[in-house]
Amino acid sequence: MIMATRAASAARCSSSVIALLLLLVVMAGTSSSSAQLSTGFYSYSCPGVYDAVKSVVQAAIAREQRMGASILRLFFHDCFVQGCDASLLLDDTSSFQGEKMATPNNGSVRGFEVIDAIKSAVEKVCPGVVSCADILAIAARDSVVILGGPNWDVKVGRRDSTTASFSGANNNIPPPTSGLANLTSLFAAQGLSQKDMVALSGAHTIGQARCTNFRAHVYNDTNIDGAFARTRQSACPRTSGSGDNNLAPLDLQTPTAFENNYYKNLVCKKGLLHSDQELFNGGSTDAQVQSYVSSQSAFFADFVTGMIKMGGITPLTGSNGEIRKNCRRIN
Ligand code: HEM
Ligand SMILES: *[C@@H]1O[C@H](CO)[C@@H](O)[C@H](O)[C@H]1NC(C)=O
Ligand SMILES: *[C@@H]1O[C@H](CO)[C@@H](O)[C@H](O)[C@H]1NC(C)=O
Ligand SMILES: *[C@@H]1O[C@H](CO)[C@@H](O)[C@H](O)[C@H]1NC(C)=O
Repeated sequence: MIMATRAASAARCSSSVIALLLLLVVMAGTSSSSAQLSTGFYSYSCPGVYDAVKSVVQAAIAREQRMGASILRLFFHDCFVQGCDASLLLDDTSSFQGEKMATPNNGSVRGFEVIDAIKSAVEKVCPGVVSCADILAIAARDSVVILGGPNWDVKVGRRDSTTASFSGANNNIPPPTSGLANLTSLFAAQGLSQKDMVALSGAHTIGQARCTNFRAHVYNDTNIDGAFARTRQSACPRTSGSGDNNLAPLDLQTPTAFENNYYKNLVCKKGLLHSDQELFNGGSTDAQVQSYVSSQSAFFADFVTGMIKMGGITPLTGSNGEIRKNCRRIN
């Protein structure tokens, strides 16, 4: 009896030792990839990368204010599909299906010419050193800063994928019809908390959306300000197929300024997308939205935390992947 108990408890112990070891191995495995990103990765190999990226982003935004928003979105749509690996930037060919034609991207993501121009500028300073994935991360930060948002040190050291995932783009990127539970679970699938999700959604303080993405919200939802809904209806015909690409600003008043107005709109029921208004609709995220209305600096701090976490989603590092010569194709 006693021996049996001892044996059983020894078995429990050894299995828990094995479980602990396995846990440590798993933790080492998951943390090592993002642990290899660092703010100093290009300190010696390409200290000029930051000025090169910034000057092209600055010129692009000076030409068209919306471009800052478009670049920020490229980074999000890249990171949510097999990690921040520039998979989104790969063009389709007759033998290769990329992510650009997937539903959340097709006819919607833009700014690839700016990324090409940044890559050319960076290649002039230090050829073959900086990945397209890092260019996206730095350009997204610069866009936020130029439009008035918070600054942060970008962790770099990502490498570029040799693959893309059309199905990943369709399945991982949340559609604007999502409810709060689905928004939360799609972010959780990327290792991001609900708090990160609410803070990162503040990116919708800049940029534009197409009628096809807000039509149902402005015609059919009840959690929307009536006058605001009518204004948006006037530029978005009820019947799908007409005016699908008509644009409206995600932040009705200041779509080229990065501040906390997105959250101020939500508490007034003036979110443009169904998914936006879900963050303030009587649920568990209302308090966080309210806190960002009261404190822009709280929003900025959490947005930066979220951007750094999102930028750490399963990067290719070390000898994995490659440094693409041209962001649109594998070497
Ligand atoms: C929370 C879930 C999210 C949903 C459902 C969502 C959905 C959308 C949709 C439908 C559009 C308009 C696209 C179009 O009509 O062509 C859009 C635009 C945009 N999104 Fe999101 N998004 C989400 C989160 C994010 C995040 C995390 C970021 C970045 C951190 C982001 C950045 C942007 C920006 C900047 C635009 C405007 C782009 C432009 O004007 O070119 N979004 N989003
Ligand atoms: C992408 O959009 C274009 C233009 O609206 C459309 O013709 C094409 O079928 C779409 N592609 C996919 C894969 O949905
Ligand atoms: C969430 O997604 C699941 C699976 O795609 C779907 O069945 C469900 O209707 C969605 N729920 C909401 C609230 O959007
Ligand atoms: C509004 O909802 C009705 C009923 O579900 C649907 O038939 C109609 O297509 C929707 N209209 C829009 C603009 O989404």
